[in-house]
Amino acid sequence: SSIEPFAMVIFGGAGDLAQRKLFPALYTLHRSGFLPENFSVLGVGRSPRETKEYRQFLRKAVMQYARIKVEDENDWSAFAERFDYLPVDVNDASSYKELAITVANQEKQFSLPGNRLFYLAVAPELFGTVAENLKAGGLTEKENGWKRLVIEKPFGRDYQSAKSLQAQINGSFPEDEVYRIDHYLGKEMVQNIEMLRFANSLFENLWNNRYISNVQITAAETVGVENRASYYDHAGALRDMVQNHILQLLMMVAMEPPSRLKPEAIHDEKVKVLRSLRRYDEEDVDRYIIRGQYTGGLMDGKEVPSYVAEENVPADSVNETFVAGKLYIDNFRWSGVPFYIRTGKRMDEKSTEVVIQFRDVPKNLYFNKDNDLGPNLLVIKINPEEGLALQINAKKPGVANQVVPIVMDFCNNCGVDTPEAYESLIRDALEGDRTFFTHWEEVSLAWKFIDPIRRAWDKDGGENLATYEAGSQGPKESDALLNRDGFQWYSPY
Ligand code: BG6
Repeated sequence: SSIEPFAMVIFGGAGDLAQRKLFPALYTLHRSGFLPENFSVLGVGRSPRETKEYRQFLRKAVMQYARIKVEDENDWSAFAERFDYLPVDVNDASSYKELAITVANQEKQFSLPGNRLFYLAVAPELFGTVAENLKAGGLTEKENGWKRLVIEKPFGRDYQSAKSLQAQINGSFPEDEVYRIDHYLGKEMVQNIEMLRFANSLFENLWNNRYISNVQITAAETVGVENRASYYDHAGALRDMVQNHILQLLMMVAMEPPSRLKPEAIHDEKVKVLRSLRRYDEEDVDRYIIRGQYTGGLMDGKEVPSYVAEENVPADSVNETFVAGKLYIDNFRWSGVPFYIRTGKRMDEKSTEVVIQFRDVPKNLYFNKDNDLGPNLLVIKINPEEGLALQINAKKPGVANQVVPIVMDFCNNCGVDTPEAYESLIRDALEGDRTFFTHWEEVSLAWKFIDPIRRAWDKDGGENLATYEAGSQGPKESDALLNRDGFQWYSPY
């Protein structure tokens, strides 16, 4: 393993993320031989729990959510005994003294050199406080070993709040110790975009406004608001998905080749995309960005309620559960190419995809009523299916001059169990590789793009909120956005 012995402290250690993602990822990493012999994990939470009870919670989480099964009980015990739990009032600076002692004890017990990974899987209001208190409690001193902070989203709710949070965090952790999670960057096929583009001559030569007519990025979900209304009704799809995941996908598709495969070089290129991203003034927002909210509908033959009828959602909520937009990257490569983006809850299919539509041939030699050439499409399938599809036109077998679209299809996760996003990301953080984490400059530029849109919507009080039936492909306004330009959505492909 290239990971040095470490102590990990999980704030929110008894929470949903720990249970569903972090524990299963740690276990899979352990079983795959990526974790060092020596490490420790300390879960931190509000309510008291016995060590034994906490390890049972760990076991249940792994059995329920890990992609591999527990087979060897001796190995399991060796893994589980690295885990312990401590109740901490995270707002109370004095309770970090006990935390410091507990971590130091674990480090002694397992001969750890002082490398520490602090993972904040807590409410975002607490990010700044925890970072400050960690330092005040003496947990971040660097004489022995590295100290890193992993933070979940959301990072702020607009540019101003993100900036204050950044200042607060930087007081304890300089930027190069901060690992902001965007789990989309941990997805295999998102990481594959880079490879596909920069390791092939086939695509990169065509990857510009001369050969690409438009790009479509879709992240559609079938789930509704679930039990997260208290967060989601204040966030909305724009903050929840577009500010982070969708813009990250956009950067991966649109960035220039980096000078080398180093995190800084890659981030430089990603940031340039956001600098070229056209910002919309409040009064232009409605022309380019539309929003919607789901009404009741049928999904898998079952009636599901409208958004406003969901638990803990106010009946008069004008929160958006769907966003579609037409974005422009005003640089040499992309000038004039629309990037259509779309995300929503309660859509007909779970599917995250990027579709690259190439320009039509200059003249269709095969044109007649039977031969409407289909567009050349490259589809990058991210989730749940991972793969690539290339749609091209070919001769219809046995018939002269008749064209049919054919699809070359590659599946990345058929017969192969690919890693979960959290496995890759935790591993990267432990190795000190910030490539697939969001840097401050990306966060701040993303908010600067989002803020005027949000302001326009907050002002109109929901006047231009479209509706769509649960189980549909979103509001008709989202189709119209492309149809106006002579295009159509191709996802789910
Ligand atoms: C999260 C959002 O970041 O991403 C959720 O907060 C959303 O609202 C989720 O459901 C989608 O992730 P994935 O990996 O299922 O596409």
